[in-house]
Amino acid sequence: MQIKSLKNDEYPPSEDTFFLANTIENEKGDFALDIGSGSGYLTKLLSENFSFVVGTDINYNVLTHQTYKTKNLICCNSSDALRIKFDLIVCNLPYLATDEILDVATDGGVEGLEIPLKIIKSAIPCLNTTGKFLFVTSSLSNYQALIDATKREGLRAKVIAKKKLFFEELIIVEAKK
Ligand SMILES: C[S@@+](CC[C@H](N)C(=O)[O-])C[C@H]1O[C@@H](n2cnc3c(N)ncnc32)[C@H](O)[C@@H]1O
Repeated sequence: MQIKSLKNDEYPPSEDTFFLANTIENEKGDFALDIGSGSGYLTKLLSENFSFVVGTDINYNVLTHQTYKTKNLICCNSSDALRIKFDLIVCNLPYLATDEILDVATDGGVEGLEIPLKIIKSAIPCLNTTGKFLFVTSSLSNYQALIDATKREGLRAKVIAKKKLFFEELIIVEAKK
């Protein structure tokens, strides 16, 4: 899919951010990765409990002006630039079902699958065999198809939390090797 334009706005911490934050606040370990770091909110939270934390984002402008500043930020697709195995990988995915990618912060492409699947495929080699990948998706996408596609990539995947909002239901998926 062709990305038509790149909005430079930072995605402010939102309901989906806080939902994932609540899920990971007690996670501890050595290596953690936040894919799609955005404002850096989740990256900074991970830095409290992990010894080495990396944040990636495809939007360079967002990374250079992060509200919640952390070290080890890399501008790349998902984890394409990394050769490290992480104990925990998190991603608040751009999950909205859209015909085009007009806003990389939110648009997931057709059925909300294209960008999330690209991100997940890239993350798999960076997931420790004992590690955990937690990502946020939503009823505004075909999340069951995303879970099925994740399983086809060789991960065990299941919904571990749901949160109903006024206009959507947020879903956290846990995937393991
Ligand atoms: C929904 S926002 C989440 C931001 C932040 N993690 C949070 O929870 O508030 C998604 C972020 O993923 C980034 N992103 C989109 N596609 C990406 C990709 N292929 N690789 C890395 N980052 C991506 C966007 O630029 C955006 O900052």
